[in-house]
Amino acid sequence: MANLIVYYSRKGQNYWNGSIVDLAKGNTERVAEFVQKAVGGDLFEIETVRQYSRDYMVCIDEAKQELHDGARPELVRYPESLDGYDTIFVGYPNWCSAF
Ligand SMILES: Cc1cc2nc3c(=O)[nH]c(=O)nc-3n(C[C@H](O)[C@H](O)[C@H](O)COP(=O)(O)O)c2cc1C
Repeated sequence: MANLIVYYSRKGQNYWNGSIVDLAKGNTERVAEFVQKAVGGDLFEIETVRQYSRDYMVCIDEAKQELHDGARPELVRYPESLDGYDTIFVGYPNWCSAF
């Protein structure tokens, strides 16, 4: 069974244990690593060409604007191929209650 674990995770100011702190590694990235440890597979990090602000409140404004605009942010890279994977895990944070 070949697994691919695709995730987006933002570094910078974020919630951790109930308060806003500066995270060198995002929460979803940690979860993606747990998944890899549990089931094995390749990790693929989604990165946007234009990075969101590390400042939490500024990032909220950026995300709200993108949601309003129906934005589809350009990505730095894409997986070369999905052939050969039996299961693809997709991890992403909850932003503005949008899924
Ligand atoms: C722009 C933005 C919007 C968010 N909106 C929500 C929300 O609507 N509901 C919620 O429970 N958490 C929300 N959060 C909190 C994130 O889901 C939470 O901080 C998550 O752990 C971020 O994952 P990451 O560290 O992998 O980026 C938001 C965070 C950001 C940056």
